[in-house]
Amino acid sequence: MAKTPLSMKPTGWFQVAWSAEVGVGEVHKMKYFGREMIAWRSADGDVAVMDAYCEHLGAHLGYGGRVEGDRIVCPFHGWEWNHEGRNVCVPYEKHANKGRRIRSYPVAELNESIFIWHDVEGRAPYFDVPDMFAAFGDGKTAADYYPPIPGATLFREQLEIHPQYIMENGVDFAHFKFVHKTPFMPEFTRHDFSGPVSFVDFTIAFDEGATLEDATSGVESINAGLGVSVTKSWGMVENRTMPCVTPVDEHTSDVRFTVWIGRKPGEENTDLSGYGKAMAGFVIDQFELDVNIWQHQRYSDPPALSPKEFEGFRALRKWATQFYPDTPEWSEARDLSAAQPS
Ligand code: FES
Ligand SMILES: [Fe+2]
Repeated sequence: MAKTPLSMKPTGWFQVAWSAEVGVGEVHKMKYFGREMIAWRSADGDVAVMDAYCEHLGAHLGYGGRVEGDRIVCPFHGWEWNHEGRNVCVPYEKHANKGRRIRSYPVAELNESIFIWHDVEGRAPYFDVPDMFAAFGDGKTAADYYPPIPGATLFREQLEIHPQYIMENGVDFAHFKFVHKTPFMPEFTRHDFSGPVSFVDFTIAFDEGATLEDATSGVESINAGLGVSVTKSWGMVENRTMPCVTPVDEHTSDVRFTVWIGRKPGEENTDLSGYGKAMAGFVIDQFELDVNIWQHQRYSDPPALSPKEFEGFRALRKWATQFYPDTPEWSEARDLSAAQPS
């Protein structure tokens, strides 16, 4: 076991649940960034995420708290709180307690998932979670894919993984041959950044005998901060994936992986079954091979990089520093000179 030297309190959007886990009127307990939290869905369908403890005398709202309309009601003395965590009613007083507020988090709900914005400095969100379909601008919609929930997902709780490991995996072209048994080492076709978003595209194939020169398939990925990636494959089994890693405490993270498999033309099934289920299984198996490495990995800094690897990792690690406002030494451009191959 090796604790990561990277901050477990990065800034950005992080998946905390799948939408289906929080029905209307339901209260869902969870722990992220070292804090007890709840997610609850009001009668009009909006999800709120806030710290779990009532600001009155500290009852945990995940144990007996109930949703009434657009409020959550504490089981202890009936105080009512709105989706921003503001007190809106003390049932035995004329006025609500306007001064007290439960810490709440900006929420985004898309891609079948619930995300919260986390920032130790309390800044408002300054980028978006990419939409699985709109982000790739190819006209595809959710209707072109089997619904991924619940059959095409992977959930692994509290692994010793940092979100940055998964981002580094995207630029780690050499691992594909060894971990995923691709017939050749993929080559980048794109690796650039736009502020908090990184784009990584490469050519890849899984068919035996395929070569880089004649490969007709690849993957595009859009990484929004360290917590959320969306990927699209082309030229092979039509799929989109969303790997998400969310810190739970100073040592561990939850890993969620969601897979959309393109519908087979003419197939009757509307739900994931048969072909769709088999293909999703194949994609999830590949991801699990990575997870098996990541969960026991020790973050290497500076790493011993080969000449071909150097630029991709250097650029990625430099980009990642912007998400660690709580550790200034990481916020400066990291000097990887010790890793420079001679
Ligand atoms: S502790 Fe919540 S209302 Fe008293
Ligand atoms: Fe991988």
